[in-house]
Amino acid sequence: MSEVHQGRRRLLAALAVGGGLVAIGGGSALVMNARGRSGYEDAINATWRHSDSTDLPLSSARRELVRYATLAANSHNTQPWQFRLSDHSVLVLPDPGRRLPAVDPDDHHVFASLGCAVENMVQAARAFGLRAVPSYDPGAPGIRVDLEAAPPERTDLFDAIPHRQSTRSRYDGRSVPPEHLRLLEAAGNGDGVRMLLFTERQQREDILSYLVAGNSAQLDDVAFVEELESWIRFSYGEALSTRDGLFSKSSGSPVLPGWIGRLIFSRVFTKGAENRKYESQLRSSAGVAVFVSDKNEPAYWAEAGRCCQRFALQATALQLRHAFINQPVEVPAVRGQFATYLGIGGRRPDLVMRFGYGPELPRSLRRPVEHVILQA
Ligand SMILES: Cc1cc2nc3c(=O)[nH]c(=O)nc-3n(C[C@H](O)[C@H](O)[C@H](O)COP(=O)(O)O)c2cc1C
Repeated sequence: MSEVHQGRRRLLAALAVGGGLVAIGGGSALVMNARGRSGYEDAINATWRHSDSTDLPLSSARRELVRYATLAANSHNTQPWQFRLSDHSVLVLPDPGRRLPAVDPDDHHVFASLGCAVENMVQAARAFGLRAVPSYDPGAPGIRVDLEAAPPERTDLFDAIPHRQSTRSRYDGRSVPPEHLRLLEAAGNGDGVRMLLFTERQQREDILSYLVAGNSAQLDDVAFVEELESWIRFSYGEALSTRDGLFSKSSGSPVLPGWIGRLIFSRVFTKGAENRKYESQLRSSAGVAVFVSDKNEPAYWAEAGRCCQRFALQATALQLRHAFINQPVEVPAVRGQFATYLGIGGRRPDLVMRFGYGPELPRSLRRPVEHVILQA
């Protein structure tokens, strides 16, 4: 049975429990859903697109680079970034109001997300006839990206930016040809960050045991579950009004009025069901990439983000899907055991992604550029 069907079956069981209440909400919810869907699709089409032109004056190009940056992967889709524009540079800053204290107490994922955004900016800059040069000064907040004139060049990774998505579904089990694995390897390594690639069946089973251990610990943690639920957007209306967070449809779950979603969340989102879902997702994947940085410091976390975003763009260019499975690195006790399995000594495994072939899922939204650019 497909995961979407399993999810529906669990949902129906939960709806049966919540019976009367759901019946009252049902009819009007259907009408609102149809209206919401077309508004959502319009917003998605306006978000996930290339610029009309790459031949722009610097001030317009800079704004477009920020727009491309916001299309990057980021933890829980909180979009934890702000951008301060100067003549020839962009400062990419963390947004303290969009931290995730339960899953990310040390802001590791905030800096990894900033790194993802910076990588999109670096790839896009070339198309606009600019070279983007990021630098990190531990004494200053955020990442500074200097912009210099350069010959325009449109690359496969740039073309892939509006097509990339985190695809949290079952893949089709096909393996990736060696020449494409080599391209993924070239994309995923960086300055002080190494990517480890696992494609053997037994390796996927080994990694699955850390994924299940991490996921089980997280679902036993009330603060983690509450934080996650607060970022889920159950309906089109919720997703459209915030334009952030985890839209249920983007995870293959049904769209529901928010109050019904929250009512049944704890019945549907159980440890057993989630672990079974991850088992089938990982077993259907072609492989797993683990990003490991040399030092456990914000500059390296950001570099790991850059590497995983580049990897994701390269995968997208090769018609491969990807999804993060970070549970093994998010729970400190499991992270230590996972580091031992990886044989990386005292270094920190930063991020974990699975990849493979499969259909797309509905996309998630982003806040408009005007909301993330800080006025001087
Ligand atoms: C640092 C970081 C950690 C993430 N962790 C997870 C994760 O553990 N599980 C997951 O499904 N997605 C994870 N994601 C993916 C985000 O949820 C996803 O990028 C976001 O919802 C936006 O969706 P998009 O990538 O399709 O644009 C992570 C992304 C980043 C950058």
